[in-house]
Amino acid sequence: MTGSSYRYLERQVQDGVLFVTIRREEKLNAMNDGMMAELTDCFLRIRERADVRAVVLTGTGKGFMAGADIEGYGSFDIGQFFAFQQKGREMYRAIETCPQPVIAAVNGYALGGGFELALSCDIVIASEKAKFGLPEVKLGLVPGGGGVQKIARIVGPFVAKELTMSGRFLTAEEGKSLLFVNQVTEPDKLMDTAAAFARMLAGQAPLAVQALKKLIDEGRDASLETAQAYDRSYLANLFHSEDGQEGIAAFIEKRTPRFQGK
Ligand code: COA
Repeated sequence: MTGSSYRYLERQVQDGVLFVTIRREEKLNAMNDGMMAELTDCFLRIRERADVRAVVLTGTGKGFMAGADIEGYGSFDIGQFFAFQQKGREMYRAIETCPQPVIAAVNGYALGGGFELALSCDIVIASEKAKFGLPEVKLGLVPGGGGVQKIARIVGPFVAKELTMSGRFLTAEEGKSLLFVNQVTEPDKLMDTAAAFARMLAGQAPLAVQALKKLIDEGRDASLETAQAYDRSYLANLFHSEDGQEGIAAFIEKRTPRFQGK
């Protein structure tokens, strides 16, 4: 596997936005070893690409991703199962720590590891056809990709327990009211909406956008005082950056800033 020969992913760059599309449509994009390795490789490579300022991640067909490949689970021994979980962790970390912002354009089922995939992104835009859920309880399991703790921090313990213990699916509108979906669109407007949002992000000062991603993700588990100290330290660095100086000069000169990511 190399970046140019993925089996399960398609990639395309346009106007500073990288579109990554998962293709295993006949299995609702259920995640096997190969797909996981490709997603990890893809997201580790993105950080080296100065031409990519935002990423849109989506799926084909009825699935965004219907979770781990349950058929694969059927043939795993405990060692293989742990190795699969570990690779999953590496994949989610590659996305969470990707410096550029990642938009999940959720076209259909985002279940189990697929919901955890969306929760590893920075912005979630969902089609009216999207369905979210952590149904592992129905297999006698619990989610292993970080979703339990993430959803509990987003929706609170009572709703998180209801969702994970029932394993029920949520609509995109429910996701929006529970604050893990930013925007809901008609199915045929999903990609245009996600692309427009990504292009807007690609036009912002890259270092400031990347700083905001880190500050919000890393500040969440720090004390307020510590997190606010991070904010001030990033601000001081950005003030000295070429983009910071360009943004200030452009405002004073009443012109559009040209941000270079420096
Ligand atoms: N792992 C492996 N295969 C999966 C899968 C998964 N997580 N999710 C769906 N598929 C496969 C189905 O087995 C089926 O394959 P087949 O055509 O060879 O039989 C194909 O994808 C289409 O799915 P199907 O169940 O026929 O579609 P549906 O519209 O009737 O139901 C779901 C859709 C999402 C409700 C149902 O597929 C489902 O419950 N999937 C499992 C979701 C899950 O538990 N994820 C967490 C895993 S830890």
